[in-house]
Amino acid sequence: MAGSKPYYITTPIYYVNDVPHIGHAYTTLACDVLARFKRLDGYDVKFLTGTDEHGQKVEKSAMAKGVDPKAFTDGVSQNFRDLAKAMNFSNDDFIRTTEDRHRRAAQALWKRLTDNDEIYLGSYAGWYAVRDEAFYGEGELTKSAEGKLTAPSGAEVEWVEEPSYFFRLSAWQDRLLAFYEDNPDFIAPDSRRNEVLSFVKGGLQDLSVSRTTFKWGIQVPGDEAHIMYVWLDALTNYITAVGFPETDHGEYANYWPADLHMVGKDILRFHAVYWPAFLMAAGLEPPKRVFAHGWWTNEGQKISKSLGNVIDPYDLVDQYGLDPVRYFLLREVPFGNDGDYSHRAMIGRMNGELANSLGNLAQRVLSMIAKNCGAAVPRHGDFTDEDKNLLGMAQGLHGRTRQCLDRQSFHDALEAIWVVVRAGNVYVDHHAPWVLKKSDPARMETVLYVLAETVRYIGILLQPFMPQSSARLLDQLAVSPNHRTFDFAGEGHALVPGTDLPPPSPIFPRFVEEEGGAS
Ligand code: MSP
Repeated sequence: MAGSKPYYITTPIYYVNDVPHIGHAYTTLACDVLARFKRLDGYDVKFLTGTDEHGQKVEKSAMAKGVDPKAFTDGVSQNFRDLAKAMNFSNDDFIRTTEDRHRRAAQALWKRLTDNDEIYLGSYAGWYAVRDEAFYGEGELTKSAEGKLTAPSGAEVEWVEEPSYFFRLSAWQDRLLAFYEDNPDFIAPDSRRNEVLSFVKGGLQDLSVSRTTFKWGIQVPGDEAHIMYVWLDALTNYITAVGFPETDHGEYANYWPADLHMVGKDILRFHAVYWPAFLMAAGLEPPKRVFAHGWWTNEGQKISKSLGNVIDPYDLVDQYGLDPVRYFLLREVPFGNDGDYSHRAMIGRMNGELANSLGNLAQRVLSMIAKNCGAAVPRHGDFTDEDKNLLGMAQGLHGRTRQCLDRQSFHDALEAIWVVVRAGNVYVDHHAPWVLKKSDPARMETVLYVLAETVRYIGILLQPFMPQSSARLLDQLAVSPNHRTFDFAGEGHALVPGTDLPPPSPIFPRFVEEEGGAS
């Protein structure tokens, strides 16, 4: 949108050693909701996701399958694109680190770092965890029950000795601390910010940023023996996608620095310490904010391939429908905390909040209008204080949800919407339009108008969370597509009395357990 404010949001790029699971779907879903919200709020949004395709972990997975890494990554990367489609994600770009545009950007960033004398050649001798693609100090390791040395993440480490280029991270400690101090919103939530601060205060060591013992990566410019450390390569994707190394005009000038990098808590250090240091060292601006969300467990257990309890997003969508899954994931857990997935919790939300609360409100209002108001938007008289109160609550939703989502507080945004859903149900019961039908039909029309307007606000604000269901809801209120943005004050936005409405049909199904109990 020309002239509107830019908003650039990114997901981590996913390793292609694995098929997509609920954790990947969760991170991208959170970004999707923010991207959709900002678009409706008038921003020029760029929403980026993609795949992280280099490094030892991916090379090993390809070798284990007996295929060439490029062919392997082509296949698995496609799975992530398919997931985006299945989850109705609205990403504007999908980046792969094996693309030419990315190799150019990563090598250009490297050159800037060497030109600024931020990189030097040395040799690395230490511990490396392929699963995390991360280096660890001796003091961080523990012995597993099987006697293997493991990183804090639980990943096994191996001893590595090889020539390596180093990034002068140790020299960035004070400048990073000053940067965090000047930008208190850079790391969220606060608990995570404190973790990062104490890590950096504890002292930083120079970081090994190249490898020589395998080939699957981007070559270090001017030294064929080395490939770039996969995290330096991967982090660069965020500027590749806005046209780096071109910085003076085009997308970089418009979108960088990114407004938000959304990440899981496991990869916060890379985004909140290494990435701003790399960027500042290259003379580029760091992103504005990094939010680290929590992890999902499955019925109380850590999710892992070896436990065989990985949650497949496709299965969830098959079982419950897409929008209930999108709703559940962002409603169940305060965003930032860990959360537990369970079938029981899922149907609790789906039946209690979607089918009963919202579904019931919409269905009662729409079917009463269909039967008693000539299937058209009711003609209202003067509004009472109670009418104005409910309308005021509905009108206040835009500001309240915006405030919540600017803090990435998805559960609070949804709760704010449900306060109005519940108030709508209380209002219906209290004013009993089915009684007014006989005693005061004109008042009945006013009451139903107030309710229809309330449902319209709810439908519009729910679009980022449940795009398909809210579209059906707004269709049933005959809200034209160009009146579905957050420009509530715009002309013709409020429902126009007398407008014909289509026949209502329920939108939020109840989940009914099959005989013998579902899974
Ligand atoms: N390739 C790196 C990121 C590079 S970004 C420049 C990577 N990829 S990943 O595929 O392993 O993980 C991507 C994201 O999925 C992480 O943010 C991680 O936290 C998230 N999840 C993986 N399992 C998860 C859960 N069980 N629950 C929630 N999210 C988790 O790391």
